[in-house]
Amino acid sequence: MERTCYNTQLSLDNVGQEVSLVGWVNKRRNLGSLLFIDLRDRSGIIQITVNEGVEVPDVRNEYVISVKGKVAKKDVPNKNLKTGEIEVIASKIEVLSKAKATPMIIADETDALEDLRLKYRYLDLRRPVLQNNLIKRAKIVSIAHDYFDKNGFIEVETPCLTLSTPEGARDYIVPSRITHGAFYALPQSPQLFKQLLMIGGLERYYQIARCFRDEDLRQDRQPEFTQIDLEMSFLDQDQILTIMEGFLKRVFKEVNGVDIKTPLRRMDYAEAVDVYGSDKPDTRFELHLKDVTKVLKASEFNAYKEADCIKALVIPGEAANTSRKVIDNLTIEVKKFGFGGIGVFKCVNGAVESSLLKFLNEAQVKELKEVSGAKDGDLILVLSGKHDQVCFTLGALRSQYARKLGYIKPNTYDLLWVVNFPLFEKDIHDGSYKALHHPFTRPTPETAKYLDSDPSKVLSAAYDIVINGYEAGGGSLRIYDQEMQNKVFNILGFSNEDIVRKFGYFVKAFEYGTPPHGGIAFGLERLSMIICGTDNIRDVIAFPKNLKAACPMSSAPQAVDEAQLLDLGIEIKKE
Ligand code: AMO
Repeated sequence: MERTCYNTQLSLDNVGQEVSLVGWVNKRRNLGSLLFIDLRDRSGIIQITVNEGVEVPDVRNEYVISVKGKVAKKDVPNKNLKTGEIEVIASKIEVLSKAKATPMIIADETDALEDLRLKYRYLDLRRPVLQNNLIKRAKIVSIAHDYFDKNGFIEVETPCLTLSTPEGARDYIVPSRITHGAFYALPQSPQLFKQLLMIGGLERYYQIARCFRDEDLRQDRQPEFTQIDLEMSFLDQDQILTIMEGFLKRVFKEVNGVDIKTPLRRMDYAEAVDVYGSDKPDTRFELHLKDVTKVLKASEFNAYKEADCIKALVIPGEAANTSRKVIDNLTIEVKKFGFGGIGVFKCVNGAVESSLLKFLNEAQVKELKEVSGAKDGDLILVLSGKHDQVCFTLGALRSQYARKLGYIKPNTYDLLWVVNFPLFEKDIHDGSYKALHHPFTRPTPETAKYLDSDPSKVLSAAYDIVINGYEAGGGSLRIYDQEMQNKVFNILGFSNEDIVRKFGYFVKAFEYGTPPHGGIAFGLERLSMIICGTDNIRDVIAFPKNLKAACPMSSAPQAVDEAQLLDLGIEIKKE
């Protein structure tokens, strides 16, 4: 096929040249005897002008056409187009393929609902905004290959038909035809295999790995997604983080032209939760949570008297905007997190207004203002209860207010490592322990001693990279000592039988010489979302699933033929 170049490679420098272009008809306009066609290809749009006398076939929107013509300078430039200073005066137009009227407008701005866009994803993908997102995503992958290859990492593929991997979500399972009643699990991550690669002596591994997790979907979660997954031996935490910072630096610079200052800040998990109310704090704006336990526990309000923890969030200048309706909505919001209500204190005209004022004396009101740092005109929101629940709920309100009040400047990035996570999460109902990261995460040397006495005090050598309030990646140093691994399994309540059944092959491998090792996985989609400036993960995936984990285009998942089920020895229970 004859094609001289992409549309937007042409400029005033090419005036007078004969060119051959191909693409889709973005728009056609008839102006008396003249016909204008906006021709769109992957690079962008160029105007084709067809003068009287040139034979033109019937061309309509989204027809695929080829155009031969001469580049000319436009009398009146079109400032909205990259190629706005020029046009191509057509001498020949050929239709390569016709198109029906499309069910949606093909332009960056479209009013089509997302389900329609996903149903006709191949049309949606013609929108420049989505193409640019996929181009940026591909660029991140290309940098990953280049950077990690240059740093001595070996790309290795690991199986997709495997056994369960312990990332805490539900598995997608695949029935075996050969052994009826036996199932593979699709990997939630390559975690066990990458550690086995370290025992296998590869020393530095990476993979652009597909992962599968059957969990409730959100704006930043898909059932299948991609990790830039790494594992390395004989490096300590600082060395690992430094290598990863080098990668992120290149991604931000080469894809978005943004300089990231390294080394990145490191924040303890405890501080992130205490001050920002999140384990992935958005640090682009302040709004810190303030501890007012001492002040309010002394009040006459029963809920405060009994609370373990009381925290305040001050929203500057919002007192006047906090109507009864706003307070009702805040109450509905905190009820979702298990609270009975929220304390609302408005600082107005030098005084404080609140329905709780009757429980506080004057000194306490003054102290509340002082400790929380509130000024006249500010709104103080107060929650009381269990520490983590209080912090995380106020953290959610903090983010909502920041969005509503426009505290977040577009195209700003703040990156930090959250470190020193608790190793275990204690179930508030039955007191059992769960691994916060996964069961192979190493305790920090300073806190390992609490494994026997008080596991809730043990911190982990785990690290999350947090960017603009997203967990863009996470990893840890791993346990390489069998005795410690057994201790952790015991605390997690795994019986020997469980261990053998779930990870027998894995634990066995550790008996044959295990190097100290650690790793990390970046969520490729999360990183792409941040780089592309979208808060919808589907905007950076060519063929995503909707929130019901279904694909509106192919209608997956679907029932299968009876014969296939018979082959697999599976009978579907009638509801
Ligand atoms: P983790 O479970 O934290 O760690 O996952 C690593 C990163 O993967 C991304 N991610 C997701 N992205 C989209 N949709 C999902 N459902 C989803 N789940 C996770 C996040 C997350 O930070 N094996 C360990 C890594 C390690 O220890 O080396 C792991 O998978 O960005």
